[in-house]
Amino acid sequence: DWNMPDYIAEAVEAIRQQVGSDEVILGLSGGVDSSVAAALIHRAIGDQLTCVFVDHGLLRLDEGKMVMEMFANNLGVKVIHVDATQQFMGHLAGVTDPEAKRKIIGREFVEVFHAESDKLKNAKWLAQGTIYPDVIESAGKGKKAAHTIKSHHNVGGLPETLNLKLLEPLRELFKDEVRKLGVALGLPHAMVYRHPFPGPGLGVRILGEVKKEFADLLRRADAIFIEELRNTKDEQGQSWYDKTSQAFAVFLPVKSVGVMGDGRTYEYVVALRAVQTQDFMTAHWAHLPHELLGQVSNRIINEVRGINRVVYDISGKPPATIEWE
Ligand code: XMP
Repeated sequence: DWNMPDYIAEAVEAIRQQVGSDEVILGLSGGVDSSVAAALIHRAIGDQLTCVFVDHGLLRLDEGKMVMEMFANNLGVKVIHVDATQQFMGHLAGVTDPEAKRKIIGREFVEVFHAESDKLKNAKWLAQGTIYPDVIESAGKGKKAAHTIKSHHNVGGLPETLNLKLLEPLRELFKDEVRKLGVALGLPHAMVYRHPFPGPGLGVRILGEVKKEFADLLRRADAIFIEELRNTKDEQGQSWYDKTSQAFAVFLPVKSVGVMGDGRTYEYVVALRAVQTQDFMTAHWAHLPHELLGQVSNRIINEVRGINRVVYDISGKPPATIEWE
């Protein structure tokens, strides 16, 4: 059982010892691990830390705004916000295979990050939000490779080619400890207890070819779903967001017929996915209340022009995976 203020003081001291007066660069994704790492390192060395936030155009609604608000405005962290939407969309045009999409997004991410880090000539360290389970997982990579169903490209993971020393202050922590540390460092509860979000983002939630127009529709549908999950509570007062491990909308590039007023519509379909799981290796679909599903469906169809049908995914993992690609 560790005492949080003592832990922070020790961690801050260790970081100061390690980096001295060097400059540090960190890829901020908006996820829990990189966010907590950024907050901790900033506490230790302030402006010696520069974060790079790469928007590949496949993030959730207002993600860039949220990250800049929290880190740059509230915490006073130096953050470089790179909008690389055009670059990613360009390379993804015409590509439909899920693995090919993952590879392109991973490769472009590294390229954008490289270009930014080259500009920070004095940076000697690359900070990463690696946590203990990641350390264990990569130690066992060789064995597991034969069973890989999806190559999990995590845009937080950057290669050795940057020629920087690695700073990984969360290496010894489990996820629940990382969350507690985040709260103690002043990060909002809602951000520290966020669902996981895949590195390739909406790139694997838009089936087939990724288009900006699809990403824009999906972002709005997804935001409505998440908002309703956060606002709908059970008898104990726990939100359905907190009762599920991961929840999101998926864009299906097929059109179906609908009616609106006196007219006929012919628009796209969105699937909702919500799962409960301990380890993400197996998962159950969440038994969301029908009223909640109905409300989400009504709102998406009324508010997001271009989507006229909403379906709910009732597949377990296995045999389905959590993401649709
Ligand atoms: P699946 O779809 O394999 O997902 O059941 C299990 C968990 O992994 C996440 N996931 C990814 N995370 N890069 C990531 O960083 C990826 O390429 C990727 N693919 C899946 C997924 O969101 C779920 O939490």
